This record gives sequence, C-alpha cells and structure tokens, in this order.
Amino acid sequence: EKGGFKHFMLKEIHEIPEAIESALVGRIDSNYTPSLHELDEFNLERVKRILLVACGTSYHAGLVFKYFAEKYLDVDVLIDVASEFRYRPIRITEDTITIAISQSGETADTLESVRAVKKAGGKVIAISNVVGSTITRESDVTLYMNAGPEIGVAASKTYVNQLILLYLLGLYIIKKRGLWNQEHREIVKQIVESPKTLKGIITNKEIENVADNYKNYHHFMYIGRGINTATALEGALKLKEISYINAVGYPAGELKHGPIALLDPKFPVFAFVPKDSLYEKMRSNIEETRARNARIVAVATQGDEEIKKIAHDVIYVPEAHEDLYPLIFAPVIQLFAYHIADKRGYDPDKPRNLAKSVTVE
Ligand code: M6R
Repeated sequence: EKGGFKHFMLKEIHEIPEAIESALVGRIDSNYTPSLHELDEFNLERVKRILLVACGTSYHAGLVFKYFAEKYLDVDVLIDVASEFRYRPIRITEDTITIAISQSGETADTLESVRAVKKAGGKVIAISNVVGSTITRESDVTLYMNAGPEIGVAASKTYVNQLILLYLLGLYIIKKRGLWNQEHREIVKQIVESPKTLKGIITNKEIENVADNYKNYHHFMYIGRGINTATALEGALKLKEISYINAVGYPAGELKHGPIALLDPKFPVFAFVPKDSLYEKMRSNIEETRARNARIVAVATQGDEEIKKIAHDVIYVPEAHEDLYPLIFAPVIQLFAYHIADKRGYDPDKPRNLAKSVTVE
C-alpha cells in the first residue's frame, strides 16, 4: 500500500506532481486563465476584505495567499489561526468574504470559526480535500483540493494543493476585477508546468545528503522574507512535528529583535534566499547569522554561485516567478524534515502526540 516507499509521507511527497494535475483539472481555460466555476455565483469583484481562517499547515498556506492577494488586489486580507479567530469579535460587511482552509474538513476550531462567521451573516468559501466532510457541508461553497487521500500525519501533497487552489483563487479574483495582465498569465503558465518542475525537485538527491549533515542537531532556525515567511514557518513546523528537533520560524528581519541571540555553532539556520526582490536583504540576514558562527543551509535559485560563499550547504531549485517560490520550496522542506526524522529513527507517519484530524478544541 506504500507503493514501494518506506513511509506514506515519502510516497505522498512523490505523489505531488500527480496531485497538482488533479487540482488543475477543469480549472484552467485556454490562454492560461483560471476558471473556478464553483465561485461563479459569488460577487468576488466587489470583495474588499478577506478573512482567512485555518490551523497549522493550512494556516501557512493561507499566509501565502495573504501576501499574494494583497500584492495584486485592492483588498485587506486578515488571517488568523482558528483557535484565536473564533473567540474574537467577527465583523462582517457587505464586501467581506471568509476563506476557511482545512484539509480534513473536520478540525474543530476551524469548524467553529465557520459557524461563527455564518452566524454573523457572512459567506464562507471552504478549501478542503475530503468530499462530504463537515466543513464542506457548512460552508457556502467548497473548492476541493483533489489531492487524493493523505495518510501521513504531516501534511505534504495537501499543502501543495492548498497553495495551488489559493493561487488560482487569487488569480480568479484578479481576472474578475479586470486587473489581468501578462504577468498573471505567466504565473498560471508556471503553475501548469509545476508538476514537471516539482518532480525534478522531489528527485534531487542533494536534499537527503544535506539532511544527513544536520540530523544530530537539537535546534534549528528557519528564516525567510515576504511570501517566504510562510515557508519558514511551515519548514519549522514540519521539522519539529516529525523529527522532534526544536525548530523555530521567523521573518528574517525579526532576527535582530531577539532570536539572533540563540545562534551559535550548535544552532543551524535554514534560509530561503530565492532570486527575488528581497534577495539582497536575505543575503545580509544570512551574513548576520554567519557572524554568530551558525551553520547555514541556503535554498537558492539555480545559478546563484555567490550564495555558496556564505552558506555551508546549498540546495538549488529552478528559477520561478517570485510569488511561486513557496510552491517550489514545499517539497524541499518536506523532504528535509522527512529524511532527518527517518535518519533519527522516528516514524514520520505517526508522530507522537499528534492526530491527522484534530477534532478536539
Ligand atoms: O485538516 P486541517 O487542514 O484542518 O488540519 C490542520 C492542521 O492540524 C494540520 O495542517 C497540521 O498542522 C499538519 N498535519 C501539520 O503537518
């Protein structure tokens, strides 16, 4: 049933290209425009405020959407973890829409958040992987992730499909608003080509080699900027939940406000430094961590030779549109965490104290 793989998690990471293909079926028109027929009834051209609610990995996918949507649309995206959202006052206006993201569709706090929004008179778009799950029944409409079943407790292919759907949702609103341009078309084109791109990353042996150098550390700090702040948080979550290494994720600019005090040769740093508009800023953050004698793993864009001079290990990924790096980096953080857990002798499919579906508050 594991299809020749040692664990479900590894199998599910290898299923990413196929999962993306399924998520895209019927959702891309000719000329690379997104079409989400499920949402035709919604007045998305008028939306001014988007509330996003989710937990864990799904929350990190939502964070990627916030950066993406706010860059191209005249909207405010407010995001919160469900266990906080549901206890705060909820303000719904005519032009507010809520997006609730839950792979399982059964997460208690996310469900209660949906109920609170509905009670306040709001409309909810759910993003879920499980047909007929509670969230799909209680929301106004569901965008199905179509990732296929995920057995491993750690989210892998479902995180990727959440990103795919959230990018498409953002792009769909951009189109509805009449803001569509060539750059958006290029993003969709790269999304359509992403199964092939990600397949290349998933089969990159270097990720396991680098993981081998770090399996015995007790701490790890993940840093990124902009849209990859979400990647840093997700990378740290993945590592801690299956390898039990104490990992923290930070927006890199926050380092000097406290966390840099932790760094020393025993506290390595995992840095996301794609060739994007924040590249130089990330580079200086990496240099700051090097000055503390921390070991550095950099995930960088192919062809960036300079980064080798400051990082101890480099994992290269192909060049992409800067907003798509969270998608490109997803299998890197998953495989890195997977190999470390496996090399430490843990079963990544069944991390201690965790359940696939968190149905308690
Ligand atoms: O099923 P959900 O998307 O609502 O689950 C939310 C979180 O419990 C989940 O994403 C969790 O953080 C992951 N299993 C971590 O890998």
